[in-house]
Amino acid sequence: MLSQKTIDIVKSTVPALKEHGVEITTVFYKTMFKNNPEVKGMFNMDNQKSGSQPKALAMTVLAAAQNIDNLEVLLPAVKKIARVHVNTNVKPEHYPIVGENLLLAIKEVLGDAATDEVLSAWGEAYGVISKVFIGVEQDMYNTK
Ligand code: HEM
Repeated sequence: MLSQKTIDIVKSTVPALKEHGVEITTVFYKTMFKNNPEVKGMFNMDNQKSGSQPKALAMTVLAAAQNIDNLEVLLPAVKKIARVHVNTNVKPEHYPIVGENLLLAIKEVLGDAATDEVLSAWGEAYGVISKVFIGVEQDMYNTK
């Protein structure tokens, strides 16, 4: 469970994320492919070039932040994304890789606005969001 303070911090950073959403995810992919080249092969590089996947991820992060205390409204969207994840063999152990690199990207793009408090709130929120994805994907793997 997230504290009310964490929820408030996450929600209050949505405007800044909206402003920098695409930039954050673009930096995120660059950082992740450099730090964790082992996941690069999972991604369709044509999507990277066209920018469609960075935008999709940015919008999903914003939607999740806006609904961090009401994540069930995201379930239909999560199920669709989870289907894509299962088809590309995304596993629970990949989530910390995405989380770490996403936080690094948020830090780089927000600069001074990315205080330790903001980063740790986002780390916690990402943990909650990734648990939802992992759970839905586990069910899909089990019934495959
Ligand atoms: C909570 C964390 C995550 C969110 C919000 C997220 C979001 C998304 C979204 C919105 C899409 C596009 C789906 C579509 O095409 O309809 C996608 C696709 C994809 N995701 Fe994730 N994702 C997350 C975690 C991960 C992780 C941990 C991995 C593995 C390293 C991963 C690998 C992929 C791959 C391989 C695709 C297929 C698209 C491509 O080839 O570029 N995702 N994700």
